[in-house]
Amino acid sequence: EKGTYPHFMLKEIDEQPFVIRNIIQKYQNEDGSVRLDDDIREAMKGSDRIYIIAAGTSYHAGLVGKQLIEKIAQRPVEVHIASEFLYNMPLLSENPLFIFISQSGETADLRGVLVEVKKRGHKALTVTNVPGSTLSREADFTLHTYAGPEIAVASTKAYTAQMAVFTLLAVDTAKAKGVNLDFDPLQELAIVANAMETLTDQKEQLEQVARDYLTITRNCFFIGRAVDFYVGLEGALKLKEISYIQAEGFAGGELKHGTIALIEDGTPVIALATQKHVNLSIRGNVKEVAARGANTCIISMEGMEEEDDAFVLPAVHEFLTPLVAVIPMQLISYYAALHRDCDVDKPRNLAKSVTVE
Ligand code: F6R
Repeated sequence: EKGTYPHFMLKEIDEQPFVIRNIIQKYQNEDGSVRLDDDIREAMKGSDRIYIIAAGTSYHAGLVGKQLIEKIAQRPVEVHIASEFLYNMPLLSENPLFIFISQSGETADLRGVLVEVKKRGHKALTVTNVPGSTLSREADFTLHTYAGPEIAVASTKAYTAQMAVFTLLAVDTAKAKGVNLDFDPLQELAIVANAMETLTDQKEQLEQVARDYLTITRNCFFIGRAVDFYVGLEGALKLKEISYIQAEGFAGGELKHGTIALIEDGTPVIALATQKHVNLSIRGNVKEVAARGANTCIISMEGMEEEDDAFVLPAVHEFLTPLVAVIPMQLISYYAALHRDCDVDKPRNLAKSVTVE
């Protein structure tokens, strides 16, 4: 039930801090360490390469998941769009482990890959919000994202839950592999949950951003570098699916390779700047598009903010910034859709779970 909320999407956005806290609780031992099934730990430990398979928003979570596993656990990971995987199957490593990420656990494109992978005798883990779903039953292992039912077609809390679970999977694998960590992941996730709460309390400010940038535009670009690029892809998908604004996310460095030709007077460009090592470069990109008339909006993070930034996120661990940076994306998309009289929870042409190829 929506309760006092006008839309499921807004309710689900607001639930994110509680979802993260719930995940921490579910996957925490009494001594404060991370608890995952021994079978999953062994499968991660025994594989020489991980192949993540997903679609849509879950694919965007997979891109962040790859970074988490590679940076925290130092295991090589590839991420693939489910519907493309079988056409251009990469040469597999000797001991691959497949991870299917799916909110619904019913996506047909993923099932096609899972069936093929099982036929070849490889191991599969499903990360899903619906244990007992098709992908969960047919895989060898399941990791539950514990986000609770997601009703709005546009995925929000399932995405942040997927990334939180990947953080724990990465940490558990690091431990199994004897990789030393210089941070406490559960504590960092708790900080993320608090930051999310701060953000969901800043709706008026974010509604104003939507008003300033998106009320009458026909297009919008999201730029970022490093992990901010992936959050930009998700921001663009959210915006296009519920507001029907043509939105595109791309890497800041790609601007000069073509996209900058599209910048006109007033074109909204939303730039994410949460990563210190690319801060100067992304701000350079913002200057380039501003000089060509773009209506630029910088979303930065405490500790890196500058005077003209449109919005500043509370600081969190540098690996976990996508979990907080996506919240303004979700809320800006929500308000843009609302201001344009779109059906937020049930956008045209879309279904909540895509059970056909
Ligand atoms: C976007 C969205 C879709 C799904 C995609 C995969 O908001 O909801 O892009 O993410 O259809 O669905 P699942 O995760 O259920 O496999």
